[in-house]
Amino acid sequence: MDSFLIRGGNRLKGKVEISGSKNSALPIVAATLLAEGKTTLHGVPRLSDIDSMTKLVGELGCHIYRNEPRTKTVGDGPDLNGPLDIEVMDEKKSEARYDIVKTMRASICVLGPLLAKRGKATVSIPGGCSIGDRPVDLHVRGLQKLGAEFRTEGGNIVGTVRGRLKGCRMYLGGAQGPTVLGTINVMCAAALAEGETVLVGAACEPEVTDCAEMLIKMGAKIKGHGTPEIRIEGVDKLVGCEHRIIPDRIECGTFIMAAAITNGELELKHCNVDHLIAVMDRLDEVGVKCERTEGGVVVSANRRLSPIEMVTQPFPGFPTDLQAQLMALLCLADGISVVTERIFPDRFLHVGELNRMGARIRKEGPTAIIQGVKELQGASVMASDLRASAALVMAGMVAKGTTRIDRVYHIDRGYEKIEQKLAAVGADIERVKEAKAVA
Ligand code: EPU
Repeated sequence: MDSFLIRGGNRLKGKVEISGSKNSALPIVAATLLAEGKTTLHGVPRLSDIDSMTKLVGELGCHIYRNEPRTKTVGDGPDLNGPLDIEVMDEKKSEARYDIVKTMRASICVLGPLLAKRGKATVSIPGGCSIGDRPVDLHVRGLQKLGAEFRTEGGNIVGTVRGRLKGCRMYLGGAQGPTVLGTINVMCAAALAEGETVLVGAACEPEVTDCAEMLIKMGAKIKGHGTPEIRIEGVDKLVGCEHRIIPDRIECGTFIMAAAITNGELELKHCNVDHLIAVMDRLDEVGVKCERTEGGVVVSANRRLSPIEMVTQPFPGFPTDLQAQLMALLCLADGISVVTERIFPDRFLHVGELNRMGARIRKEGPTAIIQGVKELQGASVMASDLRASAALVMAGMVAKGTTRIDRVYHIDRGYEKIEQKLAAVGADIERVKEAKAVA
């Protein structure tokens, strides 16, 4: 378990290359189970969650190969991580073990593809999670409507299909609104079902659109992705394709706020700011300036930050995955901000840690009331989940003195080379291996 040591006070200045989206790549790797022949994915980030997903599809009979980095522009651009080839070689297995699922909830994404292609699937039920209760009932209900039958057995969801899945019109939303991975799971299954499926109340996140675009390249007939009503005309077979993963909007938003909190100036390259429209709207009110460039954005911020109100919402609203980072920024605003979490109402583990650094945040149910302070102080804090950890890194970069963040394996799940990227633009951040961190 590594830690980060951050000495605060440096302004970030320079250019940062945004990686491919983790949350797009994870279900897309799972969706390759649907295809015959090789699929080549570009822009798949090197992250521990991606390793878990490739291990899982490997166990499910796929041959996986990471090619050498590609520096030259081929097709739509270079791929410094090396293109990832995935090909299904053996369709006998259909089980996602607890060992993998417990480390990565996105393992549930193999459920739809396995049922559609292999007619059976056993997936361990994902347990509790540090950002709150995260049920998978909507995934199961959607697949049931396509004709899959389910039982639970020894902590697993066991699904079977008699014959072929059958398309239908269904409502997919839940009490907290649409489900991103649930929409992708059912869309993947419907791509190989018999007849037409209409998903009403579908998630509109760019990651859903990205997966739909890849399925279309594989031969799927999908319309309406990116809207709440997705229409899928089932086909008999899908074939491998070549696809580039979209840029990571959450990494991009995190770096925008990191620039702002350090009163710095960053140019973020290879990102799609259209995916961050609600974030830019809120940040504009805070006093953060974002100027579009070709394929990127230049960020700078006022020295004095204004307090705001923000509510997390499904896309195109403000994403829950940037709530913790915005809160870190608002700790230093000139007045009282109010942040309400509507997607995961318990996603507030960063509040206590930010308060240890001198923030003044009070939680009232799904709302946090943030009284801006003049400065934060370095402290020893604990990373509790991926995005909360990013918020602590941001706070550490502006705090007086040294901040030590333990359990940074959380951040390694979703931010590619974060300390290298931050150090390259001026942050004083160092990774310490466990033995040194404890000493
Ligand atoms: N929900 C249900 N039942 C379900 C599924 C979801 O009630 O069967 C509820 C959830 O509890 C939540 C809401 O619906 O209240 C939305 O959850 P959603 O299903 O959309 O979340 P997810 O698909 O499991 C993805 C991202 C999360 C991100 C959420 C929301 C991946 C791998 N994960 O999760 O990302 O917060 O969408 O945008 O794509 C992260 O990257 O840090 C992260 C947690």
